[in-house]
Amino acid sequence: MSNGNGEDLGEDEHLRAPLLLHSLKELSEIILPCLEIAGARSVVEVGAEEGTFTRQLVGWAEEHDGTVYCVEPAPTPVLREMCEASDAVVLVEQFSPRALEELDRADVYVVDGDHNHYTVKRELEAIEAKSAGGGLDALVMLQDIGWPWGRRDLYYAPDSLPSGAVHPYTYDGGVTLDFPGVGEGGFRGEGELALALEEGGPANGVLTAVEDFLEPREELVLAQIASVFGLGVVYPASALYQETIAAFLSPFDESPLLQRLEENRLRLYLKVLELQDDSTTMRRDMEGLRLRNRDVDTENRALWARIAELESRSGSMEAEVVNLLNSRAFALSERLSTVTRRRGKGPGLSRQRLQNALDGKAQG
Ligand SMILES: C[S@@+](CC[C@H](N)C(=O)[O-])C[C@H]1O[C@@H](n2cnc3c(N)ncnc32)[C@H](O)[C@@H]1O
Repeated sequence: MSNGNGEDLGEDEHLRAPLLLHSLKELSEIILPCLEIAGARSVVEVGAEEGTFTRQLVGWAEEHDGTVYCVEPAPTPVLREMCEASDAVVLVEQFSPRALEELDRADVYVVDGDHNHYTVKRELEAIEAKSAGGGLDALVMLQDIGWPWGRRDLYYAPDSLPSGAVHPYTYDGGVTLDFPGVGEGGFRGEGELALALEEGGPANGVLTAVEDFLEPREELVLAQIASVFGLGVVYPASALYQETIAAFLSPFDESPLLQRLEENRLRLYLKVLELQDDSTTMRRDMEGLRLRNRDVDTENRALWARIAELESRSGSMEAEVVNLLNSRAFALSERLSTVTRRRGKGPGLSRQRLQNALDGKAQG
């Protein structure tokens, strides 16, 4: 078995593949040719996570005598190792946009860091500030211009941003299509990422940041590719490669087919999350019932033991009474009692009455 890149896959590779494709690696058939078209030599990647896409950029840089600057404030050991193993990549362990302000100008920027309006707009401004002729002259690709973060801020570290730049947010709950608030199910930050409480409105989300940046800059072009959470490609209309890149991107740019496929994939994944949540609730309920059942069982056993004890005590009491009834002492008492009864002094003792009581018969 092999994947689309002709790489051999193990028998169970498909089982180990992520359930939801999310890395820029999935868009490499679009991103890497764009580097080619722009004649890039230097690329800045903002936000690398495990380095899944960085690995491809490094491969590209090694083949093209290029350099990748990988901006990642929280590099994993895998990413660190990858960056140490190649001269074609420099790890910049810092937050963007500060890192972009300090780095030299690059030909291409791939932005996939903190997905909120404040950060993304400042990243674009920092890239523009590095440009030679005043206006932005680099090719910029931005991940997550689609749902869920296109129109809703996501914060890795909301406390590190100016308070006025941060929408009311929560670390709990999740987001679903067709609902602008935050609910119980859906995509969630698992307590690690903060989500804006409301989708939409001004200064909210990655696509809104891109549009706000572009609005006064008519010389810039934006192509929008719906796949894998949405990729925005921004470049100057005056770029030498403008015609080539526009022709290359045109089948993907605002393609209704890709939009439908993306929406379908999101809805399917949200359904999977819903089913997973339902099964978690059912498992929890079943565990509660199992424990309750165990308690009832224990109570039952204790009750049966008590019944057996009472039965055995009542059996031996009955035997004692029968012995007493058959004793000479009782016979004597019964005769005395007969005399007492005849004199009208109380009901007196009677073997028959006691035997009836033992047998459960009504007293006469
Ligand atoms: C969605 S992941 C990147 C995935 C990666 N680009 C890929 O396609 O495989 C986002 C990454 O951005 C990093 N990040 C968060 N805030 C950042 C910031 N202000 N500057 C740079 N990176 C940031 C996070 O640590 C995380 O590793």
